Amino acid sequence: MKLFLDTAVFDEIKQGVDWGVVDGVTTNPTLIARAGQDHETQVKRICGIIGNVSAEVVSEKKNDILVEGRRLASWHKNVIVKVPMTADGLAAGKILAGEGTRINVTLCFSINQALLAAAIDAHIVSPFVGRVDDIDEDGLQLVRDIVAAYRQKGIKTKVLAASLRGPFQVSQSALAGADIGTMPFSVLTAMFKHPLTDAGLKRFKEDYLKTQEPKPADASAGVGSSASVVGASETRGSDEDSLDQLWADHATLASQLGLLERVADVIGGEDLPPETLRAELDRAYDLVAGKVLPHIRTADDLQRISAGHDYARAPVHPDHDQAEQLSSTLEGFRARVARGDIEGTPREIRRILYQLHALTRPHFADQGQSR
Ligand code: G3P
Repeated sequence: MKLFLDTAVFDEIKQGVDWGVVDGVTTNPTLIARAGQDHETQVKRICGIIGNVSAEVVSEKKNDILVEGRRLASWHKNVIVKVPMTADGLAAGKILAGEGTRINVTLCFSINQALLAAAIDAHIVSPFVGRVDDIDEDGLQLVRDIVAAYRQKGIKTKVLAASLRGPFQVSQSALAGADIGTMPFSVLTAMFKHPLTDAGLKRFKEDYLKTQEPKPADASAGVGSSASVVGASETRGSDEDSLDQLWADHATLASQLGLLERVADVIGGEDLPPETLRAELDRAYDLVAGKVLPHIRTADDLQRISAGHDYARAPVHPDHDQAEQLSSTLEGFRARVARGDIEGTPREIRRILYQLHALTRPHFADQGQSR
């Protein structure tokens, strides 16, 4: 299964491309607006670094979609025009496909809709896994069913699993036979993670350090040595207390992080009064801003110190990076909620809280135990 990014944030796409793991991008007007950019400028910029860039029309009538679709397609050869799963969207999509434009039929929620998309020779059909799950149905089963229906007759339209909110949905979409999975950047970074990889790296580093002759002259400087906190603690007496404290904090934090999931569950409920949303969000944010972020920033500082202040060489833990990004998005939503702008925000907040929980809980639990 090919991996696409579901974002319009250029830096995220650039990073995915630099890692060499991303084959395309899906954008929509919401994502472009969130990236704070003009549609045409941003789509062209993204097309400059990667192929397969879905750009979505906002028109609703067939002729308007046709005009808009032609305009989007003229921006760059890498553009795939995204049309909605409506009669007008398909009618316009059929003509555009006939003109050689690649079409992505979006907002697909049933096998029949997928058959209609295939009937117009769409290049891609996009079933929305997460949004099907949102209404208590099985989004992954939908992907499985569409793939099965297409395979029966050798249909060439590619099945793109969209609205993926976590790494599990990605792996299961691949097993369901999806050709492509599109996901937010945070989900892509979560795909790299496995606790045994972290544990294995730590062990290799420790074993390597054991083979090194102790060099008293180097003991305090740490220049050229590992940036690993554990490795560094063996040579830097002065920071050992701080490191011990950090490890102890891991266990404490691991026991408190369930709050994020509990708040996410509450926020997901129907008709949540705005004051409850604000209060619950504050509870979660206090934990993130008051405990999690100070902890990871201290840990990063110690890593940098352990590398002799060699900032270029000192890696910041990828979990820390991702937690910073998710926290800053959460902060943005908190500001919106405080302004009374709650349209569509609870679902997004819930998603971020689940992601923060899924990221931080194993991180703190694993490293807490390893000490
Ligand atoms: O790929 C479609 C995506 O942008 C929708 O995701 O999480 O808003 O349902 P979501």
